[in-house]
Amino acid sequence: MARILTGIQSTGRPHLGNILGAINPAIALANKAENDSFLFIADLHSLTQIKNAEELKNNTFQVAATWLACGLDPNKTTFYRQSDVTECTELAWYLNCFFPYQRLKLAHSFKDKSDRLEDVNSGLFAYPMLMASDILLYDADFVPVGKDQLQHLEMTRDVASRINHKHGEIFVLPEPILQQDAQLILGTDGEKMSKSRNNTIDVFDAENAIKKLINKNIVTDNTPLEEPKDPDSATVYQLYKLLATNEESKTMAEKLKAGGYGWGHAKKELLDKIVSSFSEERAKFEHYQNNPKEVEEVLMEGAQKAKKVAKATLERVRNSLGYN
Ligand code: ADP
Ligand code: TRP
Repeated sequence: MARILTGIQSTGRPHLGNILGAINPAIALANKAENDSFLFIADLHSLTQIKNAEELKNNTFQVAATWLACGLDPNKTTFYRQSDVTECTELAWYLNCFFPYQRLKLAHSFKDKSDRLEDVNSGLFAYPMLMASDILLYDADFVPVGKDQLQHLEMTRDVASRINHKHGEIFVLPEPILQQDAQLILGTDGEKMSKSRNNTIDVFDAENAIKKLINKNIVTDNTPLEEPKDPDSATVYQLYKLLATNEESKTMAEKLKAGGYGWGHAKKELLDKIVSSFSEERAKFEHYQNNPKEVEEVLMEGAQKAKKVAKATLERVRNSLGYN
């Protein structure tokens, strides 16, 4: 059985683009019986940017509740919070001591982030070794990542090989699984949906709030109600199509082309579609909001399982380095 491991950034409540583009495909992979999957919320990595305790905690909760609401099965997947397995920071230190500073300086993501961010701290610089620790600690065989994370995987393999070379076969060398660019979900302004663009749709929001957002933010042209409209250039139609059946999409396209059907009508249908397609997820999410302890329990159980594996790996490392 292959072990698949992925870390999830905890940057707040995921939006429709995150759910359709990343969360649902990852859950499908994790729920496959032939995989032994580990999934964690990378809240230690978040500390490089978030220094407010409440915000950090709340982000982690929102992310965990979303994954559970979207169908992640904690009986099939070891689902945990990175910071609960303190072995991770210990291993990260050892890895740091085996990885050349000059190589770490070549990390694209650091260059990229240090140009953009205000808080450029040493944690941000050491980020790849914490990520290597996340992976090596659990003997992961495969790590699904986007293109931007491939270099971190190379560094993980590199530092693991350096230590294996010196101290014997301690670590499993992980293979990346390159996640193809998922279907791109458009935001309310017709550009890529993204937190930084302020064009997201929060499917867990109150129905009234989603309605307001759709009416106010989804861009339409000002073709009068009675005139024919072009569905393919309309964001409201593109979003509807993502969630509707082919038959339903065809019907909306025909109504738009025929005229006498306004953007307001299409927006109302989109709202109903969002609420109905996510009805189960919305109910579960609300349940977790009202019962945060349940999320906590799931994460604590996950941490117990993860810790068992982590402790065994760390013992191998400590023995080899002379800390026994
Ligand atoms: P954001 O752009 O809102 O900050 P992230 O960059 O944190 O989102 O992305 C988290 C995950 O969600 C990534 O795997 C990314 O590929 C996916 N994702 C984000 N936005 C979209 C989108 N508009 N369409 C499809 N997938 C997306
Ligand atoms: N750095 C990853 C990202 O930005 C998140 C992450 C942290 C991760 N640790 C990991 C991904 C380990 C895969 C494996 O998306």
